[in-house]
Amino acid sequence: MVDAISIEKAKEHFGRILEQQLARVERMRTDQEWTDYSKLKTIRIGICGGDGIGPYISGSAQTVLEALLKEEIASGRVEIRVIEGLTIENRVKVMKAIPDDVLAEIKECHVVLKGPTTTPKKGDPWPNIESANVAMRRELDLFANVRPVRVPELGVDWMFYRENTEGSYVLGSQGVNVTDDLAIDFCVATSQGSERIIRLAFDYAHKNGINKVSVVTKANVVKTTDGKFLSIAEEVARDYPHVKWDDWFIDIMTAKLIDPYRRSDFKVIVLPNLYGDILTDEAAQIQGGVGTAGSANIGKKYAMFEAIHGSAPRMVDEGRAQYADPSSMIKGAAMLLNHIGFVELARRLEMALEVCTQYEKRLVMTGRSNGATGQEFARYVLDTVNDPGLEAKWKGYQARSG
Ligand code: IPM
Ligand code: MG
Repeated sequence: MVDAISIEKAKEHFGRILEQQLARVERMRTDQEWTDYSKLKTIRIGICGGDGIGPYISGSAQTVLEALLKEEIASGRVEIRVIEGLTIENRVKVMKAIPDDVLAEIKECHVVLKGPTTTPKKGDPWPNIESANVAMRRELDLFANVRPVRVPELGVDWMFYRENTEGSYVLGSQGVNVTDDLAIDFCVATSQGSERIIRLAFDYAHKNGINKVSVVTKANVVKTTDGKFLSIAEEVARDYPHVKWDDWFIDIMTAKLIDPYRRSDFKVIVLPNLYGDILTDEAAQIQGGVGTAGSANIGKKYAMFEAIHGSAPRMVDEGRAQYADPSSMIKGAAMLLNHIGFVELARRLEMALEVCTQYEKRLVMTGRSNGATGQEFARYVLDTVNDPGLEAKWKGYQARSG
């Protein structure tokens, strides 16, 4: 079999991986400064539509951003750039997860709002290229995948800090078929990579007066990498003596998120990449589905905001893409605004989203022609942001949920 490689070749491959990863450790050691958006003359926001419903829902989020930032755009404080070309067709054409010219354009922006992109898997009509998400997180070193989930009526207010550049993902496209029968993948944890995500989670708890961080691993079985993650958590926790913390295994944590007696105890949850991927989908489902959740990918230099769901090609095939729910992209836009310093605007947008989708529901998205279009919904959200009664409505929603 051609793709099976011998032991010697596998060893060489492993050697190269070790060199790559040690070089990455060195890069992490030379600590970079966080971007200070308040010092930038112009904050450039890139918008990548992506595939499937991506261009539709990111178009709705763009409508929202352009309306909310109208004055800042006019004054040159903010610039919005639409970046074309992050499509599966283009990526396949150059056989790259992110075409070079697209990556260069992304790197000219300070923050990016990204629609979902197709991630090919074996057996798909597309060649099995690497996920654009995974590549972007790696290329821009977006080490923290921050995913909030809130369901006030269930007492749920969770903030997930998913490690985003290591674990089972970082070498997910570099596993080896040693022979026809033996396949090996790699999982990576570094001290620096674990520390920076765990510290960010503790910092968030500390700054927001939240007295609970839960660290999730499977360190009883995956002893080396998860073991490192957990022992680094122990070290970091010593710097935050006022923040209580506990550790959970991923299996029981998955159960506890749906335990009505326990789930409201969790607040800030920090975990390695793959567990974070899985647990945040479960959490989003509790909130009303993956379509309702936004996600921030934060690095020191760049940040990228996105929906946590896929590109739903079926909706496009069936001619329903304009009815796709843009809530998660708009939520991503709110997180983006907060990240670059428009904190009050972000707060109003998040309140408006909750009021529109959970409370007032004047327009409902069904994904079909009997519901609103994404653009109609975007305008509804904007009207709600500008509604002087927004705060009162939001309080009404909280009281009803309380
Ligand atoms: C997510 C997605 C991605 C991931 C896919 C599309 C590669 O599921 O953002 O959670 O696994 O990280
Ligand atoms: Mg996922």
